[in-house]
Amino acid sequence: MNVTASTKLLAVIGDPVRHSLSPVMHNGWIADHGLDAVYTALPLKSEDATSVIRSMKALGFMGLNVTVPHKEAAARAADRSESEVANTLRWEEDGTLSAFNTDGVGFIDSLTETAPDWRGRVSRVLIIGAGGAGLGVGKALSAYADTVHFANRTLARAEAAASAVPNGRVLRWEDLERGFGAADLIVQTTTLGMTGQDSHAWPMQFCRANAIVSDIVYKPLETEFLRAARARGLVAMDGLGMLIHQGARAFELWFGVKPDTKKARERLLAALGA
Ligand code: ATR
Repeated sequence: MNVTASTKLLAVIGDPVRHSLSPVMHNGWIADHGLDAVYTALPLKSEDATSVIRSMKALGFMGLNVTVPHKEAAARAADRSESEVANTLRWEEDGTLSAFNTDGVGFIDSLTETAPDWRGRVSRVLIIGAGGAGLGVGKALSAYADTVHFANRTLARAEAAASAVPNGRVLRWEDLERGFGAADLIVQTTTLGMTGQDSHAWPMQFCRANAIVSDIVYKPLETEFLRAARARGLVAMDGLGMLIHQGARAFELWFGVKPDTKKARERLLAALGA
């Protein structure tokens, strides 16, 4: 990588962001395509992320990825946004700022890679968790599914998520066994199973034999949830899938080329020490 005064700047902003794998992924693609650009991670602790984001244009940034807790501020900072929650920003030639959300479409792309026939198989979706990630995935899937159930430890958040999705429903946390038995697609979006966090005994034995399961956690890559699913012979999608595909969509928005997702997976596995 030869960084000069004319090198284009990209970054992921968030808090925390030092653990982010996005620089490994995007700098790999930048090298693949021989682009004069560099992608870094900038920790942003600010009550006013909107004005910080707007001011980054003056520093010459061509685009940003935005992660927790600034995705709403990113959408507000933009002159146009496809969603109230944005993870990708792009400064246009006329100086205006466009905001996008590639998380949902990235999840769908990854699901299509894992189970190409999923559209014909999935009518009942169960989302475990009702945070930003769970709501985003639930919204993306609602266009394809008959029902999207949210199960969350804190019932009020499940209710809020269910009411924000057209065909959203609430599944009580105590009824997880029944929910696992009814779902064609189960997406685990909580921090349960993440390295250093609580674990959970998932009622995987209640799943349908043709259910598809997905965990958005990627540290560890093989969560207890995925291990139990694979032991049952279910089609399982790991957390790198969504990360890579949301990144690929962002890269395409900035550079107009589709990057190599297989190469990204190899690089990310190496970075994770897997
Ligand atoms: P994000 O926006 O990234 O999805 P979040 O808003 O912190 O993150 O949400 C984390 C999710 O993990 C929530 O659904 C949370 O449940 P609560 O709403 O009840 O807090 C869930 N979660 C975290 N630890 C949990 C635990 N020990 N048991 C069950 N759910 C847990």
